[in-house]
Amino acid sequence: MGTVKSLLLGMCFVLGACTSQTSTVQTTEKGTQWEWQNGTIVVKTPERPAGQKSVLGLTTPKLEAVRVGFVGLGMRGPGAVERFTYIPGTQVVALCDYEEARADKCQELLKKASMPKAAVYSGDKGYEELCKRDDIDLVYIAADWLHHFPVAKCALENGKNVAIEVPSAMNLQECWDLINLSESTRKHCFILENCCYDWFEMNTLNMAQHGVFGEVIRAQGAYIHNLSPFWDHYWKNGENDKLGWRLDYNMKHRGDVYATHGLGPVAQALDIHRGDRMETLVAMDTKSVVGKELVEKRTGEECKEFRNGDHTTTMIRTANGKVIEIQHNVMTPQPYNRLYQLTGTKGFANKYPVEGYALDADQLSASGVQPKVDDLNSHGFLPETEMEALVEKYQHPILKKYGEMAKEVGGHGGMDFVMDSRLVYCLQNGLPLDMDVYDLAEWCCLAELGELSMDNGCAAVAFPDFTRGEWNVVKGYKHAYATPEEEAAAMEKAKAFTAKLKEQGAKEWAEK
Ligand SMILES: NC(=O)c1ccc[n+]([C@@H]2O[C@H](COP(=O)([O-])OP(=O)(O)OC[C@H]3O[C@@H](n4cnc5c(N)ncnc54)[C@H](O)[C@@H]3O)[C@@H](O)[C@H]2O)c1
Repeated sequence: MGTVKSLLLGMCFVLGACTSQTSTVQTTEKGTQWEWQNGTIVVKTPERPAGQKSVLGLTTPKLEAVRVGFVGLGMRGPGAVERFTYIPGTQVVALCDYEEARADKCQELLKKASMPKAAVYSGDKGYEELCKRDDIDLVYIAADWLHHFPVAKCALENGKNVAIEVPSAMNLQECWDLINLSESTRKHCFILENCCYDWFEMNTLNMAQHGVFGEVIRAQGAYIHNLSPFWDHYWKNGENDKLGWRLDYNMKHRGDVYATHGLGPVAQALDIHRGDRMETLVAMDTKSVVGKELVEKRTGEECKEFRNGDHTTTMIRTANGKVIEIQHNVMTPQPYNRLYQLTGTKGFANKYPVEGYALDADQLSASGVQPKVDDLNSHGFLPETEMEALVEKYQHPILKKYGEMAKEVGGHGGMDFVMDSRLVYCLQNGLPLDMDVYDLAEWCCLAELGELSMDNGCAAVAFPDFTRGEWNVVKGYKHAYATPEEEAAAMEKAKAFTAKLKEQGAKEWAEK
């Protein structure tokens, strides 16, 4: 018997069919099917179900007013409710949190804005009733990570548009399910990636789109934020939950579980699925030291395995030969850093820890800014006056429109308000949203693909093509705008709606 087995193995070796890297399909704990192909891990791409079409450039009929239901009102959610009270042509129709008191408390924000009271839903499945209402256009989800997907699924199945906090999908299955839901219902599935709307990122994107940096060939981004002041404030699911959802999730999952703040803005600058696509990644993490200690302190027991390394790095190569580096570290003490950086063939942009642009005299002049100093080279950042002139020239039109108001309303320095305002603007004007469900999937899949890489010796992993063959159809990332006339007409209707709503709200609150 032994001889027959050796003979067979010998034959396999000769034929090259039974080596460790054969095309045997393997299945992970998350249910993902993958196989080795020429030394690279390739995950299965499910076929697009019959009758379903792409949602690239998806538009929905113009909404005179956007009626919103909020789900998840912990540390993050109430700020969103408040921001919406400043956006003309919106109504907060329903508030939902697992804990009724949290949802109830947000009524105060509506009272402050003279907006009518909203309906309140609570408990584990309260969102199901909210999603069934026929007077809601958008379900805005800011719950813990494990509830993003079930709430979004329920909302889409009930014909609502959804906006989901980050990360909006936790694994590949959720990415594909959200894509299928958006494609089959023809509803928007928006990733609430606010960092795409920060000042430096937006102005730099505008510069990149105008060729200021030549061809951008390398980009980096990160979420480096020591969460030690926050761990104890995340929602806990009952008395036995000693960790809170976020620490628990990090303990159980390897890979960059919060990649979108770093990846979103650079993916836009690199036209991902608008002419280029992320093809391959390799991930590497440090061991967990701080993570383990956090768990041991809270449980009083030894933490044998904390899956998420203290610092994770993911390297990505695109079809057009660009490289993206993304980092994640929520554990070690160090200054907040999103590492945003673009390296171009003719210039360079960097946000942290110092904001600056490096361009030589010729490139600066070609970009429409005459240098005031002699002998300007790109060995250092532009002097202040040149940098200000460059930023002024390339101030993003979206910031020109919302920037001032955003600084007043606030929310991470204003970027949250710019994001919400754009979402509402696109819905009111019947335009494609700034981010589609494919962006959502591409930015969120890093977690599971990185885990696959690291669990297999930091091997190369191929990205699935979430557009299923259409990544090169649209040429270049663009924000959509209505004509000035259409925009003015929509705004007039929006303002009239809000004025009437406030009248009604003031009356309602006075009667109570
Ligand atoms: N984009 C950003 O800058 C940013 C900043 C902070 C948080 N976030 C994201 O926002 C989300 C919420 O974070 P947080 O800091 O507010 O956490 P949190 O723990 O303070 O709040 C989570 C809330 O979800 C609620 N919840 C749990 N189960 C629910 C259910 N079944 N139905 C309804 N509500 C339920 C909890 O009661 C809690 O109030 C997370 O996804 C986080 O990653 C994003």
